[in-house]
Amino acid sequence: MKFYNGRVLNNTPRSRETLAALWKIQKLILDTLDFTQVVQKIVDSIAIELDYLKLGYRAVVLVLADEKAGVLKRVSMSQTSAAEAIMGAGKMTFDEIEVPLGATENFCVKTYIDHQIRITRDWKDILTPPMVEEEARRLQQVSAVKNSLVYPIMEREKCIGVMIFSLEKEASEMSDEEKDLIQSFTDIVSLAVHDAKIYAELDAANDKLKELDKLKDEFISIASHELRAPAGVVKNYLWTVINGKKKLPEQVISDLQKAYGAGDRLAGLVDDLLDVSRIEAGRLEMHEEEFDLGQLIIETAEEYQNRAGVKKVKLDAGEVKDGVVKVKTDRNKIHQVTGNLIDNAIKFTPEGGTVTVKVNSNRGNARVVVTDTGVGIAKEDQSRLFTKFGRIDTSGTEVGRTTGTGLGLYICKRIVELSKGKIWVESQPKKGTKMLFELPSL
Ligand SMILES: Nc1ncnc2c1ncn2[C@@H]1O[C@H](COP(=O)(O)OP(=O)(O)O)[C@@H](O)[C@H]1O
Ligand SMILES: [Mg+2]
Repeated sequence: MKFYNGRVLNNTPRSRETLAALWKIQKLILDTLDFTQVVQKIVDSIAIELDYLKLGYRAVVLVLADEKAGVLKRVSMSQTSAAEAIMGAGKMTFDEIEVPLGATENFCVKTYIDHQIRITRDWKDILTPPMVEEEARRLQQVSAVKNSLVYPIMEREKCIGVMIFSLEKEASEMSDEEKDLIQSFTDIVSLAVHDAKIYAELDAANDKLKELDKLKDEFISIASHELRAPAGVVKNYLWTVINGKKKLPEQVISDLQKAYGAGDRLAGLVDDLLDVSRIEAGRLEMHEEEFDLGQLIIETAEEYQNRAGVKKVKLDAGEVKDGVVKVKTDRNKIHQVTGNLIDNAIKFTPEGGTVTVKVNSNRGNARVVVTDTGVGIAKEDQSRLFTKFGRIDTSGTEVGRTTGTGLGLYICKRIVELSKGKIWVESQPKKGTKMLFELPSL
């Protein structure tokens, strides 16, 4: 076996025990995300595995470079009895042992710089500075360590620290497989440190995103509250003028109606945004009452007849009867749900198509079905519909590009769920779409 730049060149076949030891440590890393925990667990389990293999190791120490501070820092040491005895006898606490990167006589620094594995019989080589020689040697005597191996921890081409393995035996007593095992331990540590760093960064990034998300929610909430009132005022004035006593030219009325329509869409958009911000804050309030679902559907369909007519789409709710199905939930919100489903159906159905609305009872549930003969939705897009801003590009279809925010179905889903019901879609591209929701019936 040769050592080269800290990498083992030949591939010694590994025994079952060795593999098991490696595997255990690798699994441990995958299960732990916290950096300090990971490194402590690693050195401990390396020591335990080595002890289990009866290879004569007294302590395992992980040292990482802190380039900003210009030092090599002891990060963790195996909690073996030998290691504890050493620390107990020492004058410095473990984390006070910092080796300046400028101390080029120190073996840890040497290995950190040239990436070569080192071995020493004298602890002054690894502990001075910060310790004085006598203190380092006194500790070595307490520990009964004969040799200490210093291995570089490589992350790609870069050395990030060293591992110190202290043996109560001669280096010549180390088998090739043992050296291979030690090397593998160091490689794993490198992976673990790398992963732990990435997790730490992700964690910080995640916190930042959460903070931004909160700010965004607040912004939407404030902005929509402030937009709501003026949109209402504009709509009211337009309505008064359009429906006023004063006779106005056709063209002016038609223009004002367009303006009113735009005001209406603006108000709808603001309402959707407000609903979303309420949903996110868990403040979407439901005002329960008993009501006739059939009657509500008939009313809603009535409201959309005009829109359907303009688009030359037939809107048929003829089969819906009132006085048949009763439910208990927030009537206005279910009105909003059915309105959005019918609105979507009309929007995504080309001229000449049909939208059919039905209500039926199904095993203690009231089921509303809105069927259209429109452009349909591909299977792979269907799960996205009910998510926030879940719009699908329809520019290549018969209905072309449509306006909307993609918030409608997201809100519908929340409302239906708060009513202890469910909502789903069945659709085939070019054939049409069925939007269904169920509520517990009385
Ligand atoms: N009946 C339907 N036919 C085809 N696509 C639909 C239908 N209903 C909803 N969709 C798709 O689901 C998306 C989300 O709907 P919705 O949340 O109401 O948003 P919006 O109406 O603002 O686009 C729509 O943009 C559309 O892509
Ligand atoms: Mg919609």
